[in-house]
Amino acid sequence: MKKIFLILFLSFSLHSIAQPVAIIPKPVKMELKEGSFTIDRNTSLEFDSKLSNLRNTVSFFSNFVNDVSGIRLHQHWKNGKKIYLKIRKEKVIGDEGYLLSVTPQSIVITANDPKGIFYGIQTLIQTLPKERTNAALQIPSMEITDYPRFQWRGMHLDVSRHFFTPNTIRMYIDLLSAYKFNTFHWHLSDDQGWRLEIKKYPKLTSVGAWRADRRGILWSQSQPTQPGEPTTYGGFYTQEQAREIVRYAAERNITIVPEFDVPGHSAAAITAYPFLSCSGKQQTMITGGIYPKDYESTLDVGKDSVYTFLENVLTEVMKIFPSKYIHIGGDEVDKSPWAKDSACQRLMRKENLKDLDELQSYFIRRMEKFLNAHGKKLIGWDEILEGGVAPEATVMSWRGESGGIAAAKQHHYVVMTPGEPLYFDHYQAGPEGEPLAFGGMNTLKMVYDYNPVPKELSPDEAKYILGAQANLWAEMIQSETHVEYMILPRMLALAETDWTPLPEKNYDDFYNRVQQKFREFDQEGLTYCEGNFNVTFVPGSRNGKLNVTLQSEIPGAQIYYTTDGSYPGAGSILYNGSVNIDSSMKIRAVVVQNGIVKSKVPSQQSFVVDKVSGLNVNYQFPPSTQYMANGINSLTDGIRGTLAVNKYWHGFAGNDMIATIELPETETIHEVSAGFLQRYSDWIFLPQWMKVEVSDDGQNFHEAGKVKNDISPEEMQLLIKDFKIDFSSVPCRYIRVTAKNLGVCPPGHPGEGKPAWLFADEIVVY
Ligand code: ACM
Repeated sequence: MKKIFLILFLSFSLHSIAQPVAIIPKPVKMELKEGSFTIDRNTSLEFDSKLSNLRNTVSFFSNFVNDVSGIRLHQHWKNGKKIYLKIRKEKVIGDEGYLLSVTPQSIVITANDPKGIFYGIQTLIQTLPKERTNAALQIPSMEITDYPRFQWRGMHLDVSRHFFTPNTIRMYIDLLSAYKFNTFHWHLSDDQGWRLEIKKYPKLTSVGAWRADRRGILWSQSQPTQPGEPTTYGGFYTQEQAREIVRYAAERNITIVPEFDVPGHSAAAITAYPFLSCSGKQQTMITGGIYPKDYESTLDVGKDSVYTFLENVLTEVMKIFPSKYIHIGGDEVDKSPWAKDSACQRLMRKENLKDLDELQSYFIRRMEKFLNAHGKKLIGWDEILEGGVAPEATVMSWRGESGGIAAAKQHHYVVMTPGEPLYFDHYQAGPEGEPLAFGGMNTLKMVYDYNPVPKELSPDEAKYILGAQANLWAEMIQSETHVEYMILPRMLALAETDWTPLPEKNYDDFYNRVQQKFREFDQEGLTYCEGNFNVTFVPGSRNGKLNVTLQSEIPGAQIYYTTDGSYPGAGSILYNGSVNIDSSMKIRAVVVQNGIVKSKVPSQQSFVVDKVSGLNVNYQFPPSTQYMANGINSLTDGIRGTLAVNKYWHGFAGNDMIATIELPETETIHEVSAGFLQRYSDWIFLPQWMKVEVSDDGQNFHEAGKVKNDISPEEMQLLIKDFKIDFSSVPCRYIRVTAKNLGVCPPGHPGEGKPAWLFADEIVVY
């Protein structure tokens, strides 16, 4: 017996495990040194016994070490080497920062606060394997000074559209904590489910947490629960479970900010308690994206009983969540029921509120007063700015950055969470071969390159940006592995954006560290997206000739392409510099990494080459800066538009498109066409007519042809139409194309009388 033990012990002490150091987020200052510290059976983990608040952190690390190596760290010095945790005043590093010193003799973590010690421990853990090794552990010698750039480093999870178990929530919190996030925004209510037990209103969960099971049906086609149909799909957290999760999060430096989304997005609460809506009508739970006509999802903010309900709910909520912030939603409110509701109208008269935005603002202010009176702060989506923002409110900017910019300029605190690039329900690759996502494309690099401080803000205003947060809406997500896939590795990019000083950020270096994290995810059994292996085509021109640059966000990878329509592979043309587009062609390209084709399908782009390709376009009215496509010469870049509005199209708000192109020399032309888009729901209409004029001198033009639109502005189908004019050949040097904007949105349109958009993609001349 004794002999066997000795052999095991010897083999144990001979092997030790070290792995490449890849710390995310990258520390402010880090210097790797010669040698390493070995954690073995004699190592102790010590701290000043007066600092009992370090006990959790100590158990956290001891348990981790024990899990991966079987080693139990001693709490008091035996005869081995020491890991020592010290609280001491250190000015630079603030509340959450730490100093870490690893030498072959000792590890010392110093911080002002236990939060900093915890982050030092998380950094140590990032140097260790994530699976059981049964070996001593090596930590390379290093000196680190580290502290965060932002105080709000957040991740959100929607548990309403699909319910996730407490185990999944703990997994989510573990990941946040490992990458030094400090805020978990828990979206606990929405139209499709109310997820927290409220003792005073038991139906919120007995009714509002359950719906008909429509798994297997597309969200957009998911019909409401039918009367009498069993409501078997859903779930909720008991208050005890929520308290336990709050405790679990706090032990990992995570504050949970609960969100109860009101006064819109409240269909689940209204289904449980119909008195909350304007109509008071009984309804069944919706199960997805189909909302029947007259369905109620907005609270009746004119009734005192609604405020009493919310105050009672929040009173219970505040007892569970110690967070300073409570999120009250405020987004996408359908205010139309308020216009017909007598209680709302009475309140508006009494409070002198001039429109429905001001009524919403009244509601938010009243909620804020209640929260402030209980020592809490209100945070809401950027719609809370409409009608006047509540005095102390913090704004979460999701519809781009404009809400955040406006709020910071008014000296309100802001959390940046713009849909692009911080909505993690959007694609991160593909979309071919990817799980169905909500839309859009937010790649790892886009998240990494995001700077939460917009350039529009002065240094003083920039102080109001608390940080950035990514949101994971769950319409398309039903499983824990799918949650992991959508956040990994994008949350690592956000972690670095939120923590690391801007000058220290470097995408290529980050990408290499992510590759090491992939190995750790494999060890931990986490699901993740390997990368965006698309090729991006960036058109350009030189001396009036078209070319295209091919780009990949995979550092060190090669791009191979074809121009003859054949399927590209590692034997195709190796890209090295821009490709000249001298005739119409389709380029198909793949990304090759370490000799392996990584793209699931080739990326492809067609180019149309004609007499004006690559030439400059002069506009009488410039296109809107919101819709610049590939830049000012997009109409001659050889790329035709698709039905998506945010690429390829130049948009003109209310103005005509009057575009003049100068040919390099006099040429004979006989056909001019241009493409236009109609998207009724987005206020985009085909032109009333298009006209072509030609000139020899750029001064005197004469009309070569005109064509009228034959499609009604009321046509709601998305469509692209080429307006084409043929004429007998004319020699000319200048071509002027005028497309007449519809002017204003037509009668009956939601934007009736407001400026109409005109969208053009390309001018083609033969
Ligand atoms: C939101 O995405 N409606 C905040």
